Amino acid sequence: MRSLLEIDDLTASELLQVLDRSEQADLSAVLAGKGAMLLFEKPSSRTRTSMEMAVVQLGGHPVTLRSEEIGIDTRESAEDLGRLFSGYGSIIGARVFEHHKLQRLAATATVPVINLLSDEAHPVQALADLLTIRQAFGSFENLTVAYVGDANNVAKSLGLACGLVGVEFRVSNPPGYGFDAATVAQFDQVGASLSLIEDPHQAVAGAQVVYTDAWYSMGQEKEQQVRTKAFAAWQVNAQLMSEAASNAVFLHCLPAHRNDEVTDEVLDGKQSRVWPQAWNRMHTARGLMHWLLTDGAA
Ligand code: CP
Ligand code: NVA
Repeated sequence: MRSLLEIDDLTASELLQVLDRSEQADLSAVLAGKGAMLLFEKPSSRTRTSMEMAVVQLGGHPVTLRSEEIGIDTRESAEDLGRLFSGYGSIIGARVFEHHKLQRLAATATVPVINLLSDEAHPVQALADLLTIRQAFGSFENLTVAYVGDANNVAKSLGLACGLVGVEFRVSNPPGYGFDAATVAQFDQVGASLSLIEDPHQAVAGAQVVYTDAWYSMGQEKEQQVRTKAFAAWQVNAQLMSEAASNAVFLHCLPAHRNDEVTDEVLDGKQSRVWPQAWNRMHTARGLMHWLLTDGAA
């Protein structure tokens, strides 16, 4: 049995299998008569709905629960919830603040556990990001992704995913908002081509993909003012996009804080692929769950 707590829980070839499966029509109804338990400690628009739709497409029934209903570690421990929900669902998905909480839940679960975003990782987002990149360029060959902004959960999973499929990954952030040493070591382990480039102009130069995410993540709202000031020079705007490759695309996991990390002009512009990217969340959720319940269970 396999789980997905971070994208490098998959090997490169497994990751490509999941992407291929995400584009396959007529997948078998591996969840027929079965359920998926989806737990959320934070708000969600894309992740909840894409997972629920993918469960239905695989013949199953999604059960979505907010943390105030189940009280992860307040009403009941993460370990006991792992045990409990394994008896109801064939898949457990959870969005949590502390990544460790998810690891504890997964440790007692007897069904695959999927990270639906934690403070450290967002692997289901990275699957959709890679699929969108492959659809835009036809393959992963000779591509560079420039991530401009906060080196957060989304950036980490995206960078590791790029490393696995051989895409060069550049990160540009203000001092103090970069990856920690443990994350850089994790990039090394997957053999990633990682460049830490403070200057956003240098980072995007010639890149085929320009990616950004919110300057303050869920739970960091109190830092909004400080961060908005610190990140001002890292905004993705028309000028910055014009410095990337001429065929470059713009990606964002969404939700966007419009005219902070990205201008309307770029988000709504010709190079933006953010809506197909968001829709790919459903296709990759379906491909991932199908893989976990077939090849991943073998
Ligand atoms: N990108 C993403 O995970 O969006 P939600 O927070 O709306 O699920
Ligand atoms: N980095 C953001 C991603 C939201 C999908 C957050 O964690 O809030």
